[in-house]
Amino acid sequence: MLISDNAGFERVYTLIQNAIGNRTLSKMIMSRPRDKTMLRAVAMLFEKNGELSVSLESFMKDGKAVRKNHTVKGNELQKTSQLLTELAITQYRQINLICAGISVEILVSDKGKLHITEKKQEIKEIAVAGHDRIKKYLLSEGEAHPFLIKLGVCSENGRVYDKKQAKFRQINKFLDQIDAIYGDLPQEGELCVCDLCCGKSYLSFAAYWYFSVHKARKVSLYGVDLKSDVIAYCSEVARSLGWDGMHFKTGDVSRFQPPSHPNLVLSLHACDVATDYVLAGAIRSEADVILSTPCCHHEINGQLKGFSGLDFICKHSMLRQKLADAVTDGLRAKTLEIFGYDVTVCELIDPDETPKNLLIRAVKRRKKPSSAQVINLIKEYSDAIGFFGITPKLWSLLEDEARLSAISGERKPQ
Ligand SMILES: C[S@@+](CC[C@H](N)C(=O)[O-])C[C@H]1O[C@@H](n2cnc3c(N)ncnc32)[C@H](O)[C@@H]1O
Repeated sequence: MLISDNAGFERVYTLIQNAIGNRTLSKMIMSRPRDKTMLRAVAMLFEKNGELSVSLESFMKDGKAVRKNHTVKGNELQKTSQLLTELAITQYRQINLICAGISVEILVSDKGKLHITEKKQEIKEIAVAGHDRIKKYLLSEGEAHPFLIKLGVCSENGRVYDKKQAKFRQINKFLDQIDAIYGDLPQEGELCVCDLCCGKSYLSFAAYWYFSVHKARKVSLYGVDLKSDVIAYCSEVARSLGWDGMHFKTGDVSRFQPPSHPNLVLSLHACDVATDYVLAGAIRSEADVILSTPCCHHEINGQLKGFSGLDFICKHSMLRQKLADAVTDGLRAKTLEIFGYDVTVCELIDPDETPKNLLIRAVKRRKKPSSAQVINLIKEYSDAIGFFGITPKLWSLLEDEARLSAISGERKPQ
């Protein structure tokens, strides 16, 4: 393919050289290849022993991928920029440069003419990964997974749409979390997964892909949401994928009964106390693992309004909200511990992408805590809510069961 547009070539070369030299390049994605055996190529910056390089990964249609690293030390910057420019323009019809401050789309016509569109980007800074941190995610760019295409995350040739880059990262981070708890789930037989307050279910589809395709497990997934239109949409996507183990129902999660013992309960950005209804149901049905990313926290904020014990915090609404968030989720974690779960509170994705980023990961302990331990935990919990003068929803749903079983040594909490 001959390039007839010298000015365009120079402009692309300069953009690439600046993006590498100034360390502002987040990703350069080359798609719509001229060679039919290719799928796409992705270039990214990384640093090893203090030295900046570019990793260039080319993906083939048969699923193979080749990675080559190119140094940009001294004069090599010009050479590497030239190589990337030539490769991109002669072999691909579309190039997307995603950089701090700017994103550029370059379309290359069959006659070698370039059409370049430059747009401002909100991201102002790029963190260059260490060599060992160019992480292989479970879903790679360039792989055209049917569920990602159906959900509008990527194109038919696997290019993740610019507007869906954050969603794609969220899906991959979430899959990392699923991968991390996979060993805590039964390793044989059919798995039962419930996604409660599933919304458009990006993450339910990702979870279903993980278990049924990636791990080749039989899985039934139940998605529940109040909105009948999103449930109709999710059912249609599942049907078109032929994923007949996915079942979506319109309904209120507070009344949901899992059809069988749930191995994994997901509640991702469930609004306010909807998270508490999901957690209470998951605890009662003794789910093996619970992954919950709470969403808006209104309940405890409202109750803290009149609290004078920490007036220097509570009188400022922004600080009161932060305190309410921490108190709500801290007490949710404590409740899970009372009921025999090991709990970790961690970040789901990069906090720059969403402030609602906290993940409560609870894994049912094999060894039951003793009655004495449960009584101690309940006392710590009661002291905390007594101090703040609050009654969290989750506790009002479960308190009787917790006290009863701690005293009588009944089956729950385990
Ligand atoms: C912020 S969206 C999150 C959707 C999805 N889980 C995600 O992470 O993208 C919250 C969803 O919870 C649903 N919801 C809120 N309260 C509910 C309830 N009590 N029962 C069922 N769904 C509920 C809403 O309809 C909405 O779709």
